Amino acid sequence: MESPFKADIVKGKVALVTGGGSGIGYEISLQLGKHGASIAIMGRRKHVIDSAVAALHSQGVPAIGLEGDVRKDDDAARVVESTFKHFGRLDILVNAAAGNFLVPAEYLSPNGFQTVIDIDTVGTFRMCHKALKYLKKGGPGKDPSTGGAIINISAILHYGATWYQIHASAAKAAIDSVTRSLALEWGTDHDIRVNGIAPGAVDDTAGVTKLAPEEMLSKIKEKPLYKFGEKWDIAMAALYLASDAGKFVNGTVLVVDGGQWLSMPRLLSKDAVKQLSRREEIRSRAVPTGLPKSKL
Ligand code: COA
Repeated sequence: MESPFKADIVKGKVALVTGGGSGIGYEISLQLGKHGASIAIMGRRKHVIDSAVAALHSQGVPAIGLEGDVRKDDDAARVVESTFKHFGRLDILVNAAAGNFLVPAEYLSPNGFQTVIDIDTVGTFRMCHKALKYLKKGGPGKDPSTGGAIINISAILHYGATWYQIHASAAKAAIDSVTRSLALEWGTDHDIRVNGIAPGAVDDTAGVTKLAPEEMLSKIKEKPLYKFGEKWDIAMAALYLASDAGKFVNGTVLVVDGGQWLSMPRLLSKDAVKQLSRREEIRSRAVPTGLPKSKL
């Protein structure tokens, strides 16, 4: 789909995208690149980041791939430093790296729980922490009048609760909290805007293939407002938050899910409700007979 944004809204900016080699992270990289940014992709699998970088180059996007695991402090530091060394600045950090799998809570080991918290939550904080010195107002290579932007990808799993994803729900809830705390502290002290995006079900991503297998899909689809978004939908939200279009937005988590998190089963048809409601109204207005009775 064609972008509604001008092609230069992030021109001259440099973005580092964790998990940028595939899925939502790749699409965010591509769209930031198509709108003028240079891109550094961080990922664990060399062949994945290599082919993502080749695809970005084929679209005319200046891009590099950097191997690394957000769970490792040395990797995080090296990737941030290499991004700065290569492009001479860092303006946008997108934390899209995540791990998840379906598992009933009673079969999940504490180590499995911790693994996802380490990737999603601690990994997000670690990358923010390492990138701070470059993102902050007055940071090396940056326009001295303004700080950078951070976008943390979370989810809607923890709005209410989600079956079989206790680890990821906890991790994403904590990411949203990190987003708000950093928005307060680093917005105040360093002029960095920190926002989040909470995607719903997005077609053609690991989130759907791993977490909504065929056996579940037909049942999920019966939920009102359950529909698939496209990676493009998430990338447009990221462009808005990363660019000056979102310059007054700080500490928000933008839900991009077609309204899915509001989904409640419809218990009665509209016609049935209309009749029932009128009937109850008439009954409630009827002149009471006899004396009111106390319920005590
Ligand atoms: N069910 C139950 N437990 C599982 C599991 C599953 N499907 N997959 C992994 N675990 C547990 C392991 O058993 C292990 O715990 P244990 O030591 O108590 O046995 C723990 O999780 C760590 O697993 P390991 O395979 O060593 O971790 P890893 O670092 O190699 O992989 C994952 C991390 C498990 C999150 C892996 O799914 C991953 O790398 N995912 C990245 C991509 C992704 O999932 N994206 C989804 C985006 S929505």
